[in-house]
Amino acid sequence: MIDKINELLRQVEEFKPKAAGELEEFRIRILGKKGELNALMEQFKSVAPELKRELGQQLNRLKNRATERIAALREELQNASEEQSASSGDLTRPGSAEHLGSRHPISLVRNQIVEVFSRLGYTVADGPEIEDDWHVFSALNFPPEHPARDMQDTFFIEKDPDILLRTHTSSIQVRTMERQRPPIRVICPGRVFRNEAISYRAHCIFHQIEGLYIDEGVSFADMKQSLLYFAKEIFGEHTAIRMRPSYFPFTEPSAEVDVSCNLCGGKGCAVCKGTGWLEIMGCGMVDPNVLKANNIDPEKYSGFAFGMGVERIAMLKYGVKDLRLYFENDVRFLHQFDQAL
Ligand code: DAH
Repeated sequence: MIDKINELLRQVEEFKPKAAGELEEFRIRILGKKGELNALMEQFKSVAPELKRELGQQLNRLKNRATERIAALREELQNASEEQSASSGDLTRPGSAEHLGSRHPISLVRNQIVEVFSRLGYTVADGPEIEDDWHVFSALNFPPEHPARDMQDTFFIEKDPDILLRTHTSSIQVRTMERQRPPIRVICPGRVFRNEAISYRAHCIFHQIEGLYIDEGVSFADMKQSLLYFAKEIFGEHTAIRMRPSYFPFTEPSAEVDVSCNLCGGKGCAVCKGTGWLEIMGCGMVDPNVLKANNIDPEKYSGFAFGMGVERIAMLKYGVKDLRLYFENDVRFLHQFDQAL
């Protein structure tokens, strides 16, 4: 009997099941009601009293060891199967749809505008959001006490010398002229900041795109043609533009650009307030004072500049009525642009 116990102990130690079913069979064979252990227990009843002590101990050892080892093997098998399903998974399972994100409408429209101008040979230029007075105002022909500075409510960070959040991307014009000689042809997207109350049509943080073209012999007609091309690319082939005289310190002459309303085709509707036209940007011929301030000879070079609000273009393009939607990141709003360009 002692030999049988030792043989079973050896089997318990050496047993290496490949699957849970095999382990369960083994457990039943050893520890089950009609298993080897119980059979030995039966035999134990009839062994000679002087052998009972030692055999009893050995039987207990077999029982404990078998129970322990089966539990350990069960855990091992379970861990292995978890690992496997984590690494390769069940390849026959139907796939679950991954939820894809989408580009923010402001990024979509910005990319599209940049792409249209890059076809005309413009490259992207950048500049800092925290600026000084020179790059945002002085170099752009805003004299110190000029009332035009009040056109844009500025967030100041420091006074004397003035450090501020840029109120427009026109500051990138100055940055570009500092590091590059004509010919210059840049498109400058960026965030701008103004101390304005937040409403359906205004925000204190928004996005602008600035354009600047300086070379010998650049004319107002060149500007008109470029902006007409831009308008048709963004709002559709049948779009018309018109220019209204305006004022900006950094351009002379200056104009506001309107596009024909893409909702009513110019007949007049609620969006265009019955006029048939939508204002989309400011533009003009770069003021000679701006060229001089940036060491470019206005006798030799001329140029044009333009600036537009990305939120506004996106509102007009997609019929968004409240600008605050762009900042709330409500996925129900954002997912409407999944399919957009
Ligand atoms: N910087 C102007 C603004 O924020 C927009 C602008 C108007 C930019 C005319 C220009 C321009 O470059 O020529 O209101």
